[in-house]
Amino acid sequence: MARANLLVVDDDRNLLEIIRMRLESLEYEVTAVREEEEAKQAVMVQVFDLAVIDLQLANQDGISLMEEIHLLSPDLPVIILTAHGSIESAVEAMKRGAYTYLTKPFEARELTLHVDRALENRRLTSEVNRLKGLLGERYDFKNIVARSEKMHQVLEAVSRIAQMDSTVHIHGESGTGKELIARAIHLASPRKDKSFVAINCAALPETLLESELFGHEKGAFTGAIKSSKGLFAQAHEGTILLDEIGDMPPSLQVKLLRVLQERQFYPVGSEQPVSVDVRILVATNKNLAALVKQDLFREDLFYRIHVIPIELPPLRERREDIPLLAEYFLKKFSAQMSKEIKGLAPAAVQRLMLHEWPGNVRELENTIEYAVAMTVQDVITENLILPGKAGAVIEALKPLKEVRDTFEKGYLVRLLEHTQGNVSNAAIIAGRYRADFYTLLKKHGLNPGDFKK
Ligand SMILES: Nc1ncnc2c1ncn2[C@@H]1O[C@H](COP(=O)(O)OP(=O)(O)OP(=O)(O)O)[C@@H](O)[C@H]1O
Ligand SMILES: [Mg+2]
Repeated sequence: MARANLLVVDDDRNLLEIIRMRLESLEYEVTAVREEEEAKQAVMVQVFDLAVIDLQLANQDGISLMEEIHLLSPDLPVIILTAHGSIESAVEAMKRGAYTYLTKPFEARELTLHVDRALENRRLTSEVNRLKGLLGERYDFKNIVARSEKMHQVLEAVSRIAQMDSTVHIHGESGTGKELIARAIHLASPRKDKSFVAINCAALPETLLESELFGHEKGAFTGAIKSSKGLFAQAHEGTILLDEIGDMPPSLQVKLLRVLQERQFYPVGSEQPVSVDVRILVATNKNLAALVKQDLFREDLFYRIHVIPIELPPLRERREDIPLLAEYFLKKFSAQMSKEIKGLAPAAVQRLMLHEWPGNVRELENTIEYAVAMTVQDVITENLILPGKAGAVIEALKPLKEVRDTFEKGYLVRLLEHTQGNVSNAAIIAGRYRADFYTLLKKHGLNPGDFKK
């Protein structure tokens, strides 16, 4: 690692020399100056990791010099040297942005301690910023909580495919976040400023669905008192999500195929084809390939929509997302209900970790909403989590190995949360050797880096 670069400013020649020698003996690169102007010059041409500035300089006070330096180098930690008894200036220095202060006369050991600590702090801060930057670059999806490797892969796919116009087939159990992902694709795409429209193909009877999708002419059917545009036309230059596409009746499947092939359709009761430029996303919780085999879904349509598949894993297969999602929903609902809730009690988190979540993220969201609504304390206790259901949760007699694995993973996630991803500490608590501990993490697909705050 490169040597840390330190700036020392003091008009007292003797003290300046002592500090310089001391810091140089610790292998730091030191620029020692007596004049404020020299200090400012130095900051303009070099990048420093830390500055030590005397409070009382020849022409200026050290705090205002610090402020000027901070204009150029806002994150530079500064240690202010104050005279004995001037607590007020020390406090003032801290308020105006000093990292810390040292009262003169000080021992060499004290100086070293403060300098080392400030540098370590700076190193950590810049590391955190670097990681944040990396994360931001990779996944700029603020409203999507994802810690598991599986979800990271989904988000990575989303950012890659957002740029294209290909049809995406999002598959996942109910409540896994299919619509959320569809919106994310739209928002990350060049079409983001145009409309995103979504329709649930299972919710409407055939004729209504057709006119919803393609629009109709006035008088096309009883009740069609004026013409209507239809969702495909509304989504022109934007994105349309066809949800529950597996439930689309066969007659409409043919019409959809035509849209996919030619980007053209006929409104109900019209002979005039309409052309559109839309990106089509489809979602389903059914196994479309199986529906094709049973002749319930057209094979040619299947191949047309199955261009880019995205598989959303059920929540029980990514339990490491549970605590993070719970926190996220806790914040959301506390804010909505104007309640100040600090967090979840450990036993409450444990109960969340052990549940099977057949309703996936939506069920978790509802669970937290209920708990936030019901709680009279500022911490959510376990009796408010899945009341009536817990208990039945693990005992639902499953093979021992499965239960053990579930427990083990839940335990590891809690442990990594607790140690903020510090594997050495986690291994000590778990009573395992580091190497063994890594093997365990690997077995469960856990990445300690994901738990660093
Ligand atoms: N990773 C996530 N981060 C934050 N919120 C999520 C996440 N996944 C899902 N949700 C939330 O969970 C709820 C259900 O998600 P969504 O409606 O997208 O699921 P779905 O798969 O379309 O469900 P369904 O099959 O019932 O239509 C929504 O409120 C959504 O915002
Ligand atoms: Mg949905």
